[in-house]
Amino acid sequence: GKVTLDYSKAAGFISEEEIGYISKLVEDAKEQLVAKNGAGNDFLGWIDLPVDYDKEEFARIKEAAKKIQSDSEVLIVIGIGGSYLGARAAIEFLRHGFYNNISKEERKTPEIYYAGNSISGAYLEGLLDVVGDRDFSVNIISKSGTTTEPAIAFRIFKKKLEEKYGKEEAAKRIYATTDKAKGALKNLATEEGYETFVVPDDVGGRFSVLTAVGLLPIAVSGADLDQLMAGAAEGRKLALEQKFEENDSLQYAAIRNILLRKGKSIEVLANYEPSLHYVSEWWKQLYGESEGKDQKGLFPASVDLTTDLHSMGQFIQDGARIMFETVLNIEKSRGNVVIEEEAVDLDGLNYLAGKDMDFVNKSAMNGTILAHTDGNVPNLMVKVPEQNEFYLGELFYFFEFAVGISGYLLGVNPFNQPGVESYKKNMFALLGKPGYEAQREELLKRL
Ligand code: PA5
Repeated sequence: GKVTLDYSKAAGFISEEEIGYISKLVEDAKEQLVAKNGAGNDFLGWIDLPVDYDKEEFARIKEAAKKIQSDSEVLIVIGIGGSYLGARAAIEFLRHGFYNNISKEERKTPEIYYAGNSISGAYLEGLLDVVGDRDFSVNIISKSGTTTEPAIAFRIFKKKLEEKYGKEEAAKRIYATTDKAKGALKNLATEEGYETFVVPDDVGGRFSVLTAVGLLPIAVSGADLDQLMAGAAEGRKLALEQKFEENDSLQYAAIRNILLRKGKSIEVLANYEPSLHYVSEWWKQLYGESEGKDQKGLFPASVDLTTDLHSMGQFIQDGARIMFETVLNIEKSRGNVVIEEEAVDLDGLNYLAGKDMDFVNKSAMNGTILAHTDGNVPNLMVKVPEQNEFYLGELFYFFEFAVGISGYLLGVNPFNQPGVESYKKNMFALLGKPGYEAQREELLKRL
């Protein structure tokens, strides 16, 4: 099996000629990407990452994970955006659906919580309560080493560690993933003697899940890093070597751009498994930050189904016709429950007796796809054979490669994010950060 794209249900919205025209542009974009002579070409480290990574560091990540597993009941993963979403997507996709809530005996690895992905004091206070006086470690992740959200959270948890263990012992429980040479976090790590892992210069945040950024927390959760990398390597091989006709990643980039050019300016990623929620969050960052610039782009949205069929389902079926839907379909469900017969059929469900929930879920999915198609929402499906490390690695690569191609088709630099800076400048000015005095005056007048 492999990760595949099925666009047969979008056939009524796209002609073979259109696919023919765009396939040429896609091949050109691929050539640029692989030859590294297109926009943003100093951020293409992710292309070869699955086969060309730092093996010594990879081994050190596994060692650090073992140490954390042996000396900590809780791991706090501090990071935001690209320094957060990949790890969470992977852990929720791969591990138990109630990972933090099942017994320690069953889980065998530390509870994992995320911090520094908002500026909520209430959230931090709550998380400090959850840690309580249990043994814990911290993985602080920031490529720049200067992002406000994780920096604040790190201050708080660093203090808690130092109060509990003393400065020297606390330093042994802090793992810093950051730039190899620069930034406040790197300086702090050197000063205090934390173990550090590197975010490579040529890998942007949203493409960093297969670096230490994602790999250390994923390893702590007990997932298999070798399988994850092997799957990504397979995804790379398929993306780089297959011709357009057999290349699902290229086809995905092609189809979504055809649909965009006909006014479908929103792509809704739909899943039917709650454990895929954060894969969608990761995907939204990857696509939104890569393509939404120069007043262009597809707006990436997501729904968790069937949950949201009871809320957003109305809009998708019947609202403004501005979207297409991409279903993430896990072909072989990893858990299942059989619906049993009851002697008296008071709830009217005996017609499902002997059927399992996956059959019901897939029937809901297939019925919904046809209903949405009838409602003029073109439907794409990304099929994932199984919910395991290998196919997640392949899926990550599938989407990363496609977004590079898609950005080039759109005529943007898919590897920068200039728009992320605007809010930061305003926030610093309003907070009174030194150096922002003039902007502060301006902004205060406008508030
Ligand atoms: O993709 C990006 O560049 C951003 O989402 C960053 O990952 C995010 O802002 C966090 O940055 P940093 O890792 O420098 O703290």
